[in-house]
Amino acid sequence: MSKNKNNKPVWSTRIKKNSSTLFAKVGSSINVDKRLYRQDIKASTAHVEMLFKKKIISIQVKNKIIWGLKKISNEINKKKFIFNNKSEDIHMSIEKRLFELIGEDAGFVHTARSRNDQVLVDFKLWMIESSDDIIKEIDSTIKLIIKIAEKNIYTVMPSFTHLKNAQPTSFAHYILAYVEMLTRDKKRFLDNKQRLLENPLGVAAVVGTSFDIDREYTTKKLKFKNPTGNSIDTVSDRDFVLDFLYSISVCSNHISRFAEEFILWNSDAFDLIKLKDKVVTGSSIMPQKKNPDTLEYLRGKTGHFYGNLFSMLTILKGLPLSYFKDLQDDKELAFKSYDQIKISLQIMREVLNNFLINKKKMIQLAETGYTTATDLAEYIVQKYKYPFRKAYLITSKLVNLAEEKDKKLNQLTVNEMKIIDKKLNEDVLKLFNIENSVKSKKSYGGTSFENIKKMIKKYKKNA
Ligand code: ARG
Repeated sequence: MSKNKNNKPVWSTRIKKNSSTLFAKVGSSINVDKRLYRQDIKASTAHVEMLFKKKIISIQVKNKIIWGLKKISNEINKKKFIFNNKSEDIHMSIEKRLFELIGEDAGFVHTARSRNDQVLVDFKLWMIESSDDIIKEIDSTIKLIIKIAEKNIYTVMPSFTHLKNAQPTSFAHYILAYVEMLTRDKKRFLDNKQRLLENPLGVAAVVGTSFDIDREYTTKKLKFKNPTGNSIDTVSDRDFVLDFLYSISVCSNHISRFAEEFILWNSDAFDLIKLKDKVVTGSSIMPQKKNPDTLEYLRGKTGHFYGNLFSMLTILKGLPLSYFKDLQDDKELAFKSYDQIKISLQIMREVLNNFLINKKKMIQLAETGYTTATDLAEYIVQKYKYPFRKAYLITSKLVNLAEEKDKKLNQLTVNEMKIIDKKLNEDVLKLFNIENSVKSKKSYGGTSFENIKKMIKKYKKNA
């Protein structure tokens, strides 16, 4: 181990030649995994405390190691620590520095563990914290959407299916759909915790260790729930990375759908919303342009999240148990997705804080395309006790007639309606009012103004 002093790897007695320079360069993960230093020091501290408790190391050795680890932590925090590419990763780097600080006793820190479980415990600790960070970003976004919805309960707009006008709704109801999506995203990260809370530390390289260690002790110390059950599975398992990347991908999918809708609504063709200057960019040739680049960025980034998820899935496919170098890239993928999803959620909020609603255009569009036809069909069933299909047919004929006469439904005369069904009278005209239409959708989860108010209350209670 003293070979450590001359910058040689711990295996240099066994492997006499230096690694190929090219491989040493690409094989080192220090530039990526150095961000795990806090978790590494925390886990090593818990590990040596356990080794001491189990009388595997002496109190003096334990104290020396903990002192050294604290010093290293300070050095890193103060940016006085040199992350040398020659140490393959953060774990070897910290161990090497420990040798410099406390000498030979540093060699006890790696008793009854391997880098395989060390990497995993650090990574899982990081992911638990990072999932909480993402949840916080999601929560702030949910709160902002609720605030916007509260101000727009009576802002009537069309809903769409196939991007054709469907039925009148409220802008509040529309964007509250994103609260539901984001709430599911949040729950996904919370669910993942069940699996993240299994402590891998102590499985060592692959089959466990002959030392009489106490995995329950480190489990408690590091706030895990229980130790993992099979050492071979533990060092092979990256399901938790897939869960994380998948959850981020689904969240980004929701963000991309939001981005796409806002791009459409902000277009000159739709003109339902207007992005403020803070979130648009100009064109280098067309002076009049204000482009929704921020939203396009969000939509595009989704591809990267999926890419990271698919990279991980592909790395794992057909990989025999247990640890292989292939797995080293798991951290880079998770770190990239984590950084980017936080930024995406922040940008989404930036957009939500910087747009105007064209209420007039929303109403105008909600009144276009016979959006209240379904209201009439439902009325006919309820009032005249016709089967729904018959009511649907009558309404279709009425829409055809209105189209022929180039009229809106509420512009048809009673006589014109009676040609199609004698029972139709002036009472039906009120059905064609878009606000009445929204009001009438009282079924649970529907768009009525009263429902929206109740849902907002509920969301606020949970937020
Ligand atoms: N840097 C490596 C990784 O993150 C450490 C794993 C070491 N294990 C090994 N058997 N080489 O995957």
